[in-house]
Amino acid sequence: MRCAAKLNSGVCVAERAMTDGGVRIYPLIRPLAFGLDAERAHRFTIGALKLSPARGPRRFPSVLNSKVAGLDFASPVGLAAGFDKDAEVPLQMLGLGFGFVEVGTVTPRPQDGNPRPRLFRLRKDDAVINRMGFNNEGQPAAFARLMRCGRHPGIVGVNIGANKDSGDRVADYAEGVRAMSPVASYLTINISSPNTPGLRQLQDEGALKALLSAVNQARPKGGPPIFLKVAPDLGEGEPDQIVRAAIHYGIDAIIVANTTVSRPGLKSTQSGESGGLSGAPLKRLALKALRDFRAASGGEIPLIGVGGIADADDAWERIRAGASLVQLYTAMVYQGPGIAWRIAHGLAERVRRAGFANIAEAVGTE
Ligand SMILES: Cc1cc2nc3c(=O)[nH]c(=O)nc-3n(C[C@H](O)[C@H](O)[C@H](O)COP(=O)(O)O)c2cc1C
Repeated sequence: MRCAAKLNSGVCVAERAMTDGGVRIYPLIRPLAFGLDAERAHRFTIGALKLSPARGPRRFPSVLNSKVAGLDFASPVGLAAGFDKDAEVPLQMLGLGFGFVEVGTVTPRPQDGNPRPRLFRLRKDDAVINRMGFNNEGQPAAFARLMRCGRHPGIVGVNIGANKDSGDRVADYAEGVRAMSPVASYLTINISSPNTPGLRQLQDEGALKALLSAVNQARPKGGPPIFLKVAPDLGEGEPDQIVRAAIHYGIDAIIVANTTVSRPGLKSTQSGESGGLSGAPLKRLALKALRDFRAASGGEIPLIGVGGIADADDAWERIRAGASLVQLYTAMVYQGPGIAWRIAHGLAERVRRAGFANIAEAVGTE
């Protein structure tokens, strides 16, 4: 990939601005980004990343290498869905130190999403509220971009959803499985976004079974593993039902969790905005949900912990609570993209300190 602007050292300006390049420069550029409306700042960031080299995956300490759902992860710290919705910069994000990247949510047909403003930073809470509503350019556009990435050793998952105006949402997921399997390291069935009315009802037992059965039938032979992403706002007994259905229909891992519709003790003025809440205030809820899923599954299906992870201690806590992998998004908004690399190295240190030979040995040991 071409780099438009270079420093004297030959290092791409955008790349230096985005990575910490040995110096912590994100705190310096953060006020500029935060001076912009949140969605503009996001588009600016994606634009800057597109100008930087598509390096692909980094090397990590071998204690972090693990196999989950048949895939070889170099680091367990991934980028959660929603940052790179249209698969514009997956290789750049791997190059910044994420062990895997999940693009999407992509729907079969392009859609605009909800009217703006629809993305809000809650600075006093280290949080974000979004009601984007699956704005995306559609699966064919993401497919073409992922094809252009060519062969590379990185793990790029594709998160799929249903169009808001779809007459048959289950058919949309089946179509997504068929369409995106050839370019995905794994697929995520996202039925937990609070911003598409009625979508989360697909988590209800009967609807979930019908959906997972259709997804299973749509799976191509030898296709990628399929993950299921759930909400943190489930009722009693729901984790059990979901785990049983997921195992029955051959789901390979469960991602716990998406954003919450609850509003736990927020201080920021924009805390009354509707949409999904992510970041620090989600941490406790997402950890509890993970523990519920671990208790329900007893380790029978791998879990991926996400929600409010901001440092190596948070990631380590999630792994000890039963997550084989973790993902994050909102903490990167506040700390910059060097966060994945820092957390990975913090985790490697904790693995060694605890006397484990490999991170996989630490999963579920709390
Ligand atoms: C702006 C924004 C957009 C998101 N879009 C999606 C999405 O399209 N699909 C999805 O599965 N999750 C989406 N998420 C949820 C994240 O993937 C993640 O589950 C959630 O933010 C909790 O993690 P965090 O606290 O580290 O951000 C989005 C989150 C944010 C903040």
